[in-house]
Amino acid sequence: MYDDPIVPLFGPGPPGSRALKGLYRDLDLPDRGRAGPWIYANFVQTLDGRISLVNETTGIEGVAGSIADPRDWRLFQELASHADVLLSSGRYLRDLKAGTAQDILPLGGDADFLDLHAARRERGQRPQPDVLVISASLDFVVPQLLLDQGRGIHILTTADADPKRVRQREAEGATVHRLDSGERVSGQRIAHTLTSLGYRRAYCATGPWVFHTLVADDVLDTLFLTTRHRLVAGNGGTFVAGPVFEPPADLRLESLYLDQGSNVGQFYARYQVLSPEEE
Ligand SMILES: NC(=O)c1ccc[n+]([C@@H]2O[C@H](COP(=O)([O-])OP(=O)(O)OC[C@H]3O[C@@H](n4cnc5c(N)ncnc54)[C@H](OP(=O)(O)O)[C@@H]3O)[C@@H](O)[C@H]2O)c1
Repeated sequence: MYDDPIVPLFGPGPPGSRALKGLYRDLDLPDRGRAGPWIYANFVQTLDGRISLVNETTGIEGVAGSIADPRDWRLFQELASHADVLLSSGRYLRDLKAGTAQDILPLGGDADFLDLHAARRERGQRPQPDVLVISASLDFVVPQLLLDQGRGIHILTTADADPKRVRQREAEGATVHRLDSGERVSGQRIAHTLTSLGYRRAYCATGPWVFHTLVADDVLDTLFLTTRHRLVAGNGGTFVAGPVFEPPADLRLESLYLDQGSNVGQFYARYQVLSPEEE
C-alpha cells in the first residue's frame, strides 16, 4: 500500500522520489509555537475543496469514502505520532458514539503503524496522546476506550455550559475546564490551557469550526493539507468555516509532494501560518 514513491516538488530535502512511509514520521517538528505550544492541523480535501459530504440517503455528514485515502491516512497517523495532545470536538465524540466517525482518535493499533508507536517510545512520549475536547454543548459521552488507554481527557467549555452536563462529563472521567465568561471558547484560551497543562505539541484533528477558532485568534502554527486530484461536488464542508477573516490569514508554502501511488493522484502540502508582523 505504501510502496509507490512520492515526488518532492518544493521545499527542503534532496531531489528525486522518496518513500511515502516516514515522510512526516521522521520530521523534527517544533515544540514551541507563536502562542505557547506548537499547534498544527491536518485535512484531506478534494480538488473542489470538500472535506466532507452529506450522504444523500441518510443526511449524515462525514468523510466519505471518495474523500478518504489510505496513503493520506498513513500520513495522518504519522503526524499524530508527534503529538502530546490531540484537539477534538464535541461533534467528533458524537460521531464516534453514532458509529459514523472515521476512527477512534489515533494512534492506530494496526501492524502498519507499529513503527509509529516505536517512534513515540524513542522520543520518550506516552503511548497515546492525551485529548482536549472543545465543546459548548457538552452533548457527548467520554469514550471509555480513551480512558482505558490511560489518556488524560480534558474538556474546554464555555461559561454557559450546562452544570449538569459538566458533572456528567466529570463523572465519566474527564477534567472539565470552564471559561469564566463567553459563549465560545477562544483560540487564545485553547493555547493558554494547553500551556498550563504542560503540552508542547498539539495536533488539531477537528473540523472547520475549531480550525477557524484557532486561525481567527492567531494561535495556529502549521497546516498540513492533502489535496486529492478528484472532484466530488454534492453538499459538504470545507476545512475552514466561520465569519470572514479580517484581515485574511496568509500562509507560506514550506513543502509540497506529488503522490501518484493511489488510484488518483494527490498533493501533500505543508504551510506555515504567517503572523501579521511577518507579512
Ligand atoms: N477531511 C478531513 O480532513 C476532515 C477533518 C476533520 C473533520 N472532517 C469532517 O468535517 C465535518 C464537519 O465537522 P464539524 O463542522 O463538526 O467541525 P468541528 O470543528 O470538528 O466541530 C464543531 C463542534 O466543535 C465545537 N466547537 C467548535 N468551535 C468551538 C468554539 N469556539 N467554542 C466551543 N465549541 C466549539 C462545537 O461542539 P458542540 O456542538 O459540542 O458545542 C461544534 O459543534 C465532519 O463531517 C467531519 O467528519 C473532515
